[in-house]
Amino acid sequence: MVRILVLHGPNLNLLGTREQSIYGTTTLDEIDAAIAQTAESLNIEVDTRQSNVEGELVTWIQEARTGYHGIIINPAAYTHTSVAIRDALAAVALPTVEVHLSNIYQREEFRHHSYIAGVAMAQLSGFGPTGYLLALQGLLEHLLEQGAKTGAATSKPVRRTRRRNA
Ligand code: DQA
Repeated sequence: MVRILVLHGPNLNLLGTREQSIYGTTTLDEIDAAIAQTAESLNIEVDTRQSNVEGELVTWIQEARTGYHGIIINPAAYTHTSVAIRDALAAVALPTVEVHLSNIYQREEFRHHSYIAGVAMAQLSGFGPTGYLLALQGLLEHLLEQGAKTGAATSKPVRRTRRRNA
């Protein structure tokens, strides 16, 4: 089965009450529940974690080398500061999707640069909590396209429709 590690960075534990005009009223627990529900429907196993500590996120990324096929990460403020998180993602070299609830390019100038984007296969910014669900779907599709590297779960499913002239 495909296993994805979902990481939430600093201050995302305060979602629901934190700057509601930017981040809305959905709590992190609600987001994690929606991620779990979508993962179940896609037959993916997910592990969701949040930390306010840069080094802890780095350690979790390193640990993902064994047992995970991809990473979804909202590095929050570390997006704009952390060479360490970028280097960890580059080192593990797992397909990674960067997610932001808000559209970082519509906000302050200092949020326009992401240290993570250069090592991520994709970035979703501005979809709110839905971004995580789209990331799951996109990452799964990418892993399926990538082939059978990790066994049956990531091999391309058999297409049931046949072309008339094939
Ligand atoms: C964020 C955007 C970051 O700039 C900010 O520091 C966050 C959250 C987002 O999800 O929109 O904490 O990553």
